[in-house]
Amino acid sequence: MYKPIKRHKALQPVSREHHFGLLLSWKIRQGFKLNIEVKRIKAYTDWFWTHHLVPHFNFEEQYMFPILRNNHNLIKRAIKEHNRLQRLFTAIDKIERNLWLIEEELVAHIRFEERILFKEIQGNATKQQLEIIEQEHEKVITEEWQDQFWLKNLKHLNQ
Ligand SMILES: [Fe+2]
Ligand SMILES: [Fe+2]
Repeated sequence: MYKPIKRHKALQPVSREHHFGLLLSWKIRQGFKLNIEVKRIKAYTDWFWTHHLVPHFNFEEQYMFPILRNNHNLIKRAIKEHNRLQRLFTAIDKIERNLWLIEEELVAHIRFEERILFKEIQGNATKQQLEIIEQEHEKVITEEWQDQFWLKNLKHLNQ
């Protein structure tokens, strides 16, 4: 019988951040659907990049990817995708096009990590490595954003 590998509890907080990444893509789609000004969507993605994704990517690169070593094919792919997303988030031209690319590529990156990479990392990590992941992750802080343009009913409050 097929039994999915349960996410180790040390990796659950990082997986939870993936949920917020998927939500970001949904918020971008929602923003375009509701005809929100691109600069409002961009202000949010800029903030989300700095406060959520940069710490998240750094955490993965520092504590998780070395478990498989940096020349592992899956790690090479993950780092390449981090770099690509960094370029999309920080680009100063073609903003609308880049937001659509972020929407698509962030989801793909998260699915890859959840379905393939994290399983591989979890299967290769020592007990000590998992403990370090768990301890270090507690230091990552998150904040909230005011302009919730993705909530249709609150749209008037933001104008
Ligand atoms: Fe990642
Ligand atoms: Fe991730």
